[in-house]
Amino acid sequence: MGNAQMTRIPVIAGNWKMHCTRAEARALVAALTPLILDARGREIIVAPPFTALETVSRAITGTPIRLAAQNLHYEPKGAFTGEVSAAMLRDAGCAAVIIGHSERRQYFGETDGGVNRKIRAALDAGLMPIVCVGETLAERDGGQMTAVIERQVRGAWSDLAPDAISRCVVAYEPVWAIGTGRTASPAQAQEVHRLIRQLTASIASDSLASALRILYGGSVKPDNIDGLMTQADVDGALVGGASLNAEDFARIVSFTAAG
Ligand code: PGA
Repeated sequence: MGNAQMTRIPVIAGNWKMHCTRAEARALVAALTPLILDARGREIIVAPPFTALETVSRAITGTPIRLAAQNLHYEPKGAFTGEVSAAMLRDAGCAAVIIGHSERRQYFGETDGGVNRKIRAALDAGLMPIVCVGETLAERDGGQMTAVIERQVRGAWSDLAPDAISRCVVAYEPVWAIGTGRTASPAQAQEVHRLIRQLTASIASDSLASALRILYGGSVKPDNIDGLMTQADVDGALVGGASLNAEDFARIVSFTAAG
């Protein structure tokens, strides 16, 4: 998959989670923008909470930063109190949306089937899904890591046309590494990224899998991004805590993958 890797433009995405009022969001973007203006050959995404989307959309106009939301509902409209549709996210300026984050699976009962429906809704509206998968520590320790990743990947891609899968990005986020300061080693990340690519090849095709961008997430910091990016199947990062600090996020964006 060597040549195809050249065509996989790395993605560094910041997941702000439930942080930032509009004023804080404006300040974060203002601090970040001058630090990433020279970044080339990588895609930069920030995912603020719903309430700051429009504010950030305005603030990033004319910069290389693109906007994502952290969730969406799979129906286009209707009586779904508290939910937000794909079209609404597009209207607020989003280009992408995070789907199936482990916090949503853990705390809000998201299922593989729901993730699949959300991917379809996002694609129908022209949003790029950032589809999250990852095992818990108990699952890894119990020897179920491969089975869990396979179930989540098969669930996500269920009945999707190859063209639809090709418009997605995957984020492998081991739950035990999220917000814990305990990042996966580059070799641990590579093992699962390779598994995800092989699974996708078996479900869709080799060429599609070769072009699929697979991000790593879970305690990505300035001091571990370069090591992660040396791995053949690591195509970027989904960054939580460190994305709230402009200098740290800019350093992660300017990773070097010289191994
Ligand atoms: P973290 O979060 O970088 O704070 O571990 C990553 C994520 O949940 O996307």
